[in-house]
Amino acid sequence: MSTTKAADYSAIALPQAWGDERNFYALLDGMRRDDPVVWLEPEGFRPFWAVTRHADIMEIERQNEKFHNWPRPVLQSIAQEEAVRAFTGGSEVLLRTLIHMDNPDHRVFRAISQDWFQPRNLNKLQEGIADLAKRTVDRMAEKQDCDFVSEVALPYPLHVILMILGAPESDGPMMMKLTQELFAPADPDAEQQDKALTDMSTIEQAFAYFTQMTEDRRATPRDDMASVIANARIGGEYMNHLEVMSYYMIIVTAGHDTTSSSTSGGLLAMIRHPDQFERLKADPSLLNAAVDEMIRWSTPVKHFMRTAAEDYTLRGKTIRKGDTVMLLYHAANRDEDAFADPLAFRIDRAPNRHLAFGYGPHLCLGQYLAKMEMRALFAELLPRLEHVELAGDPALVQSSFVSGLKRLPIRYRIR
Ligand code: HEM
Repeated sequence: MSTTKAADYSAIALPQAWGDERNFYALLDGMRRDDPVVWLEPEGFRPFWAVTRHADIMEIERQNEKFHNWPRPVLQSIAQEEAVRAFTGGSEVLLRTLIHMDNPDHRVFRAISQDWFQPRNLNKLQEGIADLAKRTVDRMAEKQDCDFVSEVALPYPLHVILMILGAPESDGPMMMKLTQELFAPADPDAEQQDKALTDMSTIEQAFAYFTQMTEDRRATPRDDMASVIANARIGGEYMNHLEVMSYYMIIVTAGHDTTSSSTSGGLLAMIRHPDQFERLKADPSLLNAAVDEMIRWSTPVKHFMRTAAEDYTLRGKTIRKGDTVMLLYHAANRDEDAFADPLAFRIDRAPNRHLAFGYGPHLCLGQYLAKMEMRALFAELLPRLEHVELAGDPALVQSSFVSGLKRLPIRYRIR
């Protein structure tokens, strides 16, 4: 493999690479085809292996005793890493969430909320989410055009998060600020990201809010996620303050931009594939499969990282103990060895074993909730949507972590 190519592929580390579809698809497809386990040394980042094949990502993710999340679960620039260390007084991270943990802790902390996120428990939310979906589409119906991202796709999952936490809808603006500023700034060029990751006031505000929520749920437990987090005990003791705060933060941030991106990405896919859109309108029984295809198509989480706990050989390359590996889910979801005709958007794709929710012990905890939310919104929207078209150019967020559309101007007729 030529070094020129590895140097070109290094662009995948830059947030800007993800702002242009043709650009990142060319990088991902090239790596998967020509160099599926490639060592990259992007300027301003500590080097890492990039892994792009579906089977290889599963092989790594299933062996979490050999590939750890800690200490580098997500790619950050050296400048960002230094800013976090300066801010925390030497620690690599601001929070310690599930994605920062390995066993034995990961198993114990994940078990705290695992049952809550299972379909049999989530069923109780169905009515509330359907009502929220109806109100969201009713608001859309008051107009003939909108920016689907800021007016629908972002607020809708945010309100679901408020609902699962048991927080009032009036907390919406504060929560929006929190998720957008802290981990998913609207358009994170490197400078803004450094600021966002160390924005003391946002973190302090969030901690104050969740501390009060914890005190309230300890005094008066309810049937909500905040009560689960506040009252969880490990070895008979409450989690410590940072652990409690981290738990709220992962639920709030992991469930927002992800679901929002797959919702707006799904609508754009249907606008660009009108035959699939018409088919889905004609046969709503395809909605389950369609939602999975929208999630594969948009793959909002672009990567997670793992660190090798021992030397490991993958496709003839030796990953050394201590090396990090970037798992590029979007590339895997276009792998012709795993999907028939992967570049086609097919609402009835089956099987659809996409890796948009990851794989193995860290598999997304919120996958059933995310799909339930999307099903509810499209079940309300599709029968009422008589016409939809683009009213301007869609634009993508520049981020190598969680990204999708930041703007989707549409014109439409809704009953
Ligand atoms: C379409 C929407 C979503 C996508 C694409 C998505 C994707 C992902 C991915 C790729 C991971 C990492 C998996 C791995 O390392 O193998 C993850 C983890 C996680 N997700 Fe999601 N997610 C979505 C929605 C949600 C929602 C709605 C919630 C909760 C409200 C949520 C909560 C979590 C949590 C808590 C983790 C950490 C799990 C662990 O480390 O054990 N996600 N998600």
